[in-house]
Amino acid sequence: MEVEEVCSHAAADVIFRTLFSVPIEDRDASAVFRAFRAYQRTQPILNLAAFLPLPRWVPRGFRRGTRAAAAEIRRLITAMTARRAAEIAAGTAPDDLATKIMVTADPVTGARFGTEEMVDQVAIFFLAGHETSASALGWALWLLAAHPEVQERVAAEAAGMVPEFGALSRLRLTRDVFREALRLFPPVPMMVRETVCPEEFRGRKVGPGAQVVLSSWHLGRHERIWAAPDDFDPDRWGREETKAAARDGWLPFSAGPRVCTGAGFAMAEGVLLLAMLCRVFRFEVVEGRVPVPVAHLTVRARDGVWLRVVRRGAKSDGDFEAAPGG
Ligand code: HEM
Repeated sequence: MEVEEVCSHAAADVIFRTLFSVPIEDRDASAVFRAFRAYQRTQPILNLAAFLPLPRWVPRGFRRGTRAAAAEIRRLITAMTARRAAEIAAGTAPDDLATKIMVTADPVTGARFGTEEMVDQVAIFFLAGHETSASALGWALWLLAAHPEVQERVAAEAAGMVPEFGALSRLRLTRDVFREALRLFPPVPMMVRETVCPEEFRGRKVGPGAQVVLSSWHLGRHERIWAAPDDFDPDRWGREETKAAARDGWLPFSAGPRVCTGAGFAMAEGVLLLAMLCRVFRFEVVEGRVPVPVAHLTVRARDGVWLRVVRRGAKSDGDFEAAPGG
């Protein structure tokens, strides 16, 4: 089974339930999901430019289809936010992220988002919040399939858990597996920043207005920072030496004022999903199918992540097959 597609579907479901209190089967939600997939296929790297301003060096020409897909996404999300605005006015809106974004006033100016800004916010939350989580989950499952002994320990930790927030603190190994997946395969492999004043980086002068590329991919695998950097070793997170390495070399969510606003959410979502999946299924490597990472919106496997998925405790160890959405 190709698990990346299934992970995208699951993460899109989570973000739609969080934003609009609807599952991915909802007509509008599934239309947005399909439009995003069409949009993604036109994009080489994570590029919110169809929705947001980008640094100067990013080429402004979009591939054919990108603008059309972005326009369709905006149309669908505009309809969803307009409906929500009416529900808020009628006092019938559910207490979810969309309602919170729409009713929260700027603490300084008292202003609220207009329709256009609200569409921007929802589009960013949807894109930033589901492709990234799906990428991380896909790689985490691959790493567990390639390391069955760790997977068995995760399954044991997850056995008997109740999928709720309180369970998280007991899922230590699962959390460390997810951290390790984010170190080895950061979904956003690089970020760009522009200097606002003269800087000096390792003896080199950098003028204001320079574009600086920060690579979470390289930092996560740097041999001067990490012991055995290419090894998948979730137990490293329990060792003292990892504290300093993590401070200097673990940057999957960025850092500083523009740090990922969904980092806490993503760590809860990823760890819970991983535990729930390993509790029910065993994931096995398919011979001859080693995923090759490529930067495709987020870090994805060139031909997908193919795994054999076996239901635990089933009488026969037959393959489990399910179509996304099924
Ligand atoms: C494993 C999952 C995730 C990873 C690795 C990740 C990573 C990142 C990174 C690296 C950035 C900074 C990009 C840059 O500045 O160039 C970012 C920004 C952002 N992320 Fe995440 N993210 C994840 C999940 C989420 C989720 C679940 C949400 C929402 C619920 C979310 C919402 C956002 C938003 C809104 C921003 C923009 C913040 C700003 O510019 O002020 N992310 N994310």
